[in-house]
Amino acid sequence: MTIKEILTQATKKLQLSCQRPRFEAELLLAHHLKKERTYLHAFDNKEVEDIERFEALVERRANHEPYEYIVGSASFYDIELKVEQGVLIPRPETEILIDLVAEIIEREKITSIAEIGIGSGAISVVLARKFPNLKIIATDICDTPIKVAQQNIKTFGLEKQIEVRKSNLLDEVSESIELVVSNPPYIAQDFILESNVVDYEPKEALFGGVVGDELLKEIVLEVKKRGVRYLACEMGYDQKEPMEQFFISLGIKNYRFYKDLAGFDRGFVVVF
Ligand SMILES: C[S@@+](CC[C@H](N)C(=O)[O-])C[C@H]1O[C@@H](n2cnc3c(N)ncnc32)[C@H](O)[C@@H]1O
Repeated sequence: MTIKEILTQATKKLQLSCQRPRFEAELLLAHHLKKERTYLHAFDNKEVEDIERFEALVERRANHEPYEYIVGSASFYDIELKVEQGVLIPRPETEILIDLVAEIIEREKITSIAEIGIGSGAISVVLARKFPNLKIIATDICDTPIKVAQQNIKTFGLEKQIEVRKSNLLDEVSESIELVVSNPPYIAQDFILESNVVDYEPKEALFGGVVGDELLKEIVLEVKKRGVRYLACEMGYDQKEPMEQFFISLGIKNYRFYKDLAGFDRGFVVVF
């Protein structure tokens, strides 16, 4: 079968599971052939080898498995990160959190921070690359994120800057730190998610409790208790009001919320 023929067939198979079936078929075929997408257009009469292996990739995508898990990597900020099932696929909105934290680190000349819930390493790896003198202690409660984050840290040669610890929140972090950053699980337990998310991505990375903001509130309490000056967190689009009430109830005065590019409330920075 030629590239042209196999793309037509794959596009049909992806019709129900993908918003852009032709585009995704091309991405998968380019990955299978280890070529750029432009190659497919230039050589569309070329015979494709090992068709069964390509069809297996298409089948996985037709079953709603995220593209990033199928190819084993995700584009984030200015890098490609290794990902696999068991690790959250980093989302573009988290790039905003990184930029806000980077501003604080630069302005306040911060050199030691902690991340709660490292996942693939997206936040810590990007921050460590931006600030070569920054030391990060990053925690996670799950083994797969710890393993994958360590692989990404090694790929970018950041072993001297980022240390990963298996820990609930900051339980295993006794060092003094200046800032905590986190994109914790913040979705309510009964929130209906799309199949590609709920059937494939780890529950520990998605659900923050019955209401959804329970872990966010625990993080605020923990960081306040430790006397860390700055906390920056991502949150859900509907959590501004309960989080603001929570800050007020704790007597926290210096906080601000930020929005994502779609205009939804997406997180906050607290100065204790
Ligand atoms: C939403 S993911 C974020 C991953 C990554 N930081 C990112 O932004 O792509 C949340 C991560 O927090 C971890 N996690 C959940 N509860 C935790 C806890 N109590 N303590 C530490 N990590 C936790 C999950 O395993 C998951 O890797």
